[in-house]
Amino acid sequence: MFAQDSIWTSLQLPIIALSPMDGVTDVPFRTITKKYGHPDLIFTEFSSAEGLGHGASELLKEFRYTPDHHPIIGQIYGTTPEFFRQSAILLCELGFDGVDINMGCPAKNVAHSGAGAALIKTPQLAQKIIKATQQGVAEWQNGATLADCPDFTAKILSQVQNQQQQLKLLSTTNNQLAQRRLVPISIKTRIGFDTEIVGAWIPTLLEMKPAAISLHGRTLRQLYTGRSDWEAIGKAADLVKQSGLGTKILGNGDIDSYQTAHQKIAEFNLDGVLIGRASFGNPWVFLETVPEILPTTKARVALEHAQLFELTYQSDSKFSFLPMRKHLSWYIHGFPQAKEIRIQLVQTHSSQEVKAIFQKFGLL
Ligand SMILES: Cc1cc2nc3c(=O)[nH]c(=O)nc-3n(C[C@H](O)[C@H](O)[C@H](O)COP(=O)(O)O)c2cc1C
Repeated sequence: MFAQDSIWTSLQLPIIALSPMDGVTDVPFRTITKKYGHPDLIFTEFSSAEGLGHGASELLKEFRYTPDHHPIIGQIYGTTPEFFRQSAILLCELGFDGVDINMGCPAKNVAHSGAGAALIKTPQLAQKIIKATQQGVAEWQNGATLADCPDFTAKILSQVQNQQQQLKLLSTTNNQLAQRRLVPISIKTRIGFDTEIVGAWIPTLLEMKPAAISLHGRTLRQLYTGRSDWEAIGKAADLVKQSGLGTKILGNGDIDSYQTAHQKIAEFNLDGVLIGRASFGNPWVFLETVPEILPTTKARVALEHAQLFELTYQSDSKFSFLPMRKHLSWYIHGFPQAKEIRIQLVQTHSSQEVKAIFQKFGLL
């Protein structure tokens, strides 16, 4: 079902990717991570297929990116197969290298509607969603456009056009937006709902022949508690390899360095891993050899991140600097005067204020 020349087959193995994280992996975060950490692959935050289907154009914000983010995969969640079909076409129109379906989110507002990790409990619906998404990318390869997406409003259509224009303006290489191809579909999921059911769940997914599966070694019930179960991830990897389908399998959960990543990949016969939380304020986590990162370096990158955040979002009608503050706290983790600096950073409203604080503490 999936193309042999997709991003999942062309990337050199093993793949060390930046995990999708809602409220974190936005445009400036991805740019900074890519610049300093060079992950092999990055994901957007997830966005709601239902929301897009119901006209929530502001959700397109999650799908903003710049050409330097390639290879980049757009992630969607939801419960309605038809909205996945349409969202898949939308992601193809925006030039993403892949479409990822979230079947791992445990958050109440997602799972209570039956989406995210709750789909582990409704395997037939999960399969229908994958099928509809595959249909969307196949239709797009054969010439479908947003005109074939009856639920998208005029506002969504015009915003997608704006994003396409921006990407074309920023692109220095050949225009990926124009190339009709079978964009690969991947799944990000967990090892079970309340207990580990890898032995049943992974074959259910494999029946749909996804290009890749990323597996977080916790159940929905566990949320983020305990440790990621790498034995279960290894079991899944065996099932994927035995299937002979060529589906890639990536492990996820608690990886905090390049070395741990490679150790898990070797021990559990994986094609790669996703790194999430260890990248907070630490884009260097993906590097094999991490140079000594002095507090002054971190402060410089934190300021660069804050400036990029403003540049990216300040023209938005509802612009707020608040989402940037948590990143600033993460960057200064472990600094000698971290507490005093943090108290001031979490009250900032602009990169100018951030700069002044770093200067006051002798970090710039
Ligand atoms: C703040 C936050 C937001 C997240 N948002 C998403 C998301 O949008 N999509 C997704 O598939 N997983 C999401 N996750 C899960 C992560 O991608 C990852 O699976 C999880 O954090 C375990 O990996 P880690 O131990 O390397 O952080 C999120 C996790 C966190 C902490």
